[in-house]
Amino acid sequence: MPPREIAMNETIQTILDRRSIRAYQPRQIRKKELQEILLAGQYAPTAMGQQPWYFTVLQNPDLLEKLQIQCKSVFLHSDNEYLRQAASREEYHVFHHAPTLLIVSGDTQAITPLQDCVLAMENMLLAAASLGIGSCWVHSVVMLWGSPDGSALFKNLGIAIPQGHVPYAAAVFGYSAVPLPEAAPRKPDTVTIQQ
Ligand SMILES: Cc1cc2nc3c(=O)[nH]c(=O)nc-3n(C[C@H](O)[C@H](O)[C@H](O)COP(=O)(O)O)c2cc1C
Repeated sequence: MPPREIAMNETIQTILDRRSIRAYQPRQIRKKELQEILLAGQYAPTAMGQQPWYFTVLQNPDLLEKLQIQCKSVFLHSDNEYLRQAASREEYHVFHHAPTLLIVSGDTQAITPLQDCVLAMENMLLAAASLGIGSCWVHSVVMLWGSPDGSALFKNLGIAIPQGHVPYAAAVFGYSAVPLPEAAPRKPDTVTIQQ
């Protein structure tokens, strides 16, 4: 049964309808929409309410292209055969030509910065979907930071990541240029309800 028929309300419908988008229109998302998305991110739960995050929004096309070239190189040299193959295609663009990249970095001294930042990003993916804006998680940004000289590279590019923070989540946003992809079938037998 398609999700559309089982949703109980708009929030659940948005969760069911969010898909990773890998082709974007060139026009930038509206400032108001970006603000709403960022607000949704900042209302995610955090361990002990620490809010140990920082939200970096990159919209400069030249900077995005420089960063994507570095990210693509990380995929090309990764241990993962699938990533290597994807990145070896000349037309492969790690940001899918989206106009906005959002990085959530967390204070490494916080209790659970990874979980806090990932929850913030999921809130933003869902907020974007609710506004008709496409998004796609792009893990290569986190991989690039973790590579040798990764943090220096961010600094050289002038990307604002606060001292003591590590990027834990990154995703691109923009207006989709493709019809909403179908969700893959859900894995069966992944739930036990014990009463
Ligand atoms: C941690 C994580 C890393 C991901 N990295 C990438 C990525 O680098 N590039 C990409 O195109 N999609 C990436 N994705 C998106 C997944 O491929 C996508 O969520 C999955 O195929 C399910 O599709 P859906 O999001 O449309 O439901 C990532 C998703 C997660 C959660």
